[in-house]
Amino acid sequence: MEIAAIKPSELRGILQYVPRFRDRTFVIALDGAVVEAGRLRALLTDVAVLRSLNIKVVIVHGAAAQIRRLAAAEGRTVSNADGSGPADEPTLELAVRAANQVAHEILSGLSAQGLRAAVPNALHARPIGIVKGVDYRRAGRVERADGALLHSLLDHQIIPVLPPLGFDGEGRVLRLNSDAVAVAVSRVLSAVKIVYVTPYDGLRAGQTLLRHIPAEELEKLLEADARLLLPEEARPKACCAVEACKAGVPRVHIINGLLEEALLAEVFSPEGIGTLICTADYEKIRPAARADAPAIYRLIRPAMGKEELMRRTRAEIERQIEDFFVMEADRRPIACVAFHPYPELRLGEVACLCVHPAHENQGVAGRLLRHVERLARECGFTRLIALSTQAYAYFEEKAGFREGRLTDLPEERKERYLRAARRSKILVKDL
Ligand SMILES: CC(C)(COP(=O)(O)OP(=O)(O)OC[C@H]1O[C@@H](n2cnc3c(N)ncnc32)[C@H](O)[C@@H]1OP(=O)(O)O)[C@@H](O)C(=O)NCCC(=O)NCCS
Repeated sequence: MEIAAIKPSELRGILQYVPRFRDRTFVIALDGAVVEAGRLRALLTDVAVLRSLNIKVVIVHGAAAQIRRLAAAEGRTVSNADGSGPADEPTLELAVRAANQVAHEILSGLSAQGLRAAVPNALHARPIGIVKGVDYRRAGRVERADGALLHSLLDHQIIPVLPPLGFDGEGRVLRLNSDAVAVAVSRVLSAVKIVYVTPYDGLRAGQTLLRHIPAEELEKLLEADARLLLPEEARPKACCAVEACKAGVPRVHIINGLLEEALLAEVFSPEGIGTLICTADYEKIRPAARADAPAIYRLIRPAMGKEELMRRTRAEIERQIEDFFVMEADRRPIACVAFHPYPELRLGEVACLCVHPAHENQGVAGRLLRHVERLARECGFTRLIALSTQAYAYFEEKAGFREGRLTDLPEERKERYLRAARRSKILVKDL
């Protein structure tokens, strides 16, 4: 990263992550295809930045692309390349060569960065065996990752590099799936992140890139119809991400390692560049505090500029802060809404609903509206109103509001409405 290119405000943004991640462990799972595409040097430079911030790093890697390349060059066929299917003897032999080659490249690249690294024998495996009548031969699953060994390397500032291979109790080598290795290792090390570095942008539902999705929702999506998740090759990673979150890893990222500074852009920006799968605590709606006023102002400023939202000054937001709720992702406000109560009329006004563009179309506004609606019901209110110039269709089509009339507004609100002359549509929802 070029220091000259960083604005002081961006630097402040980056620095806020530093205390949180210091001495914590990240598991970086490198897809063999990213190494094959010549991106290793750049990614290891990003790893060096993480290390310089005292973040402990474990590198897990795959080798499917290299296995396919070796097989093609030697005119051989493989029973399965990515470690998720059966591994016959010739496939295992190719996998060992391919994995050694990738591990060697990683060690060499880390050396060039002045970083110490080692390939430990830390994965105890057992054969998958026969599943639904299919003999998986030399394909295995991780029985145990050696936490003590990995911890001792990390404590000595040594980066463990783990190929997708393990030994069983008899010393036989087995082919493992690197996505699953990342989960096993993260578990035993209580890692705070897995970053799957892949050759695609992240998970998509149809055309929409999922910027962040709670693990429970991803699990439901996988159960309902896994085919909706794209690209197809990302589905096993999606399953691993759900498993990792359930096992206590708070965040799993799927990013495109072909992009410049992908790793840093994902870790050190609130929007990230790929897909973030997280445990429930990642995203929460909470009442705004006075200290949130500047962040709310920054959030709504672009929408005010486009006349989507009524103009409010920072001071006005501060004065009304008790009515505001913010949705946080990774402890940074990504959306807000205000709920102005009129208890005598048993009515509440929804206002200033705004979602950061990086988080649009992921149901965030829907969740905020449901939150406000629940609150209104708890207060015994019977009606919600909203005013909107450009998002009235959203309220009508997505949130169950209907077009109302001027007489639906409380007297005092009516006066302000007429004075503002924005000609917003009046929207009503009976609870
Ligand atoms: C309008 C807004 C709040 C929607 O937030 P969001 O989190 O993206 O909304 P959701 O994810 O809950 O819903 C997305 C759906 O609403 C639709 N949608 C979004 N904005 C819309 C609009 N202005 N009109 C009609 N539909 C809209 C999307 O196309 C999407 O449809 P789909 O589910 O069929 O794909 C957001 O775009 C925003 O902050 N806009 C600027 C501020 C604003 O206008 N606020 C409302 C005035 S109070």
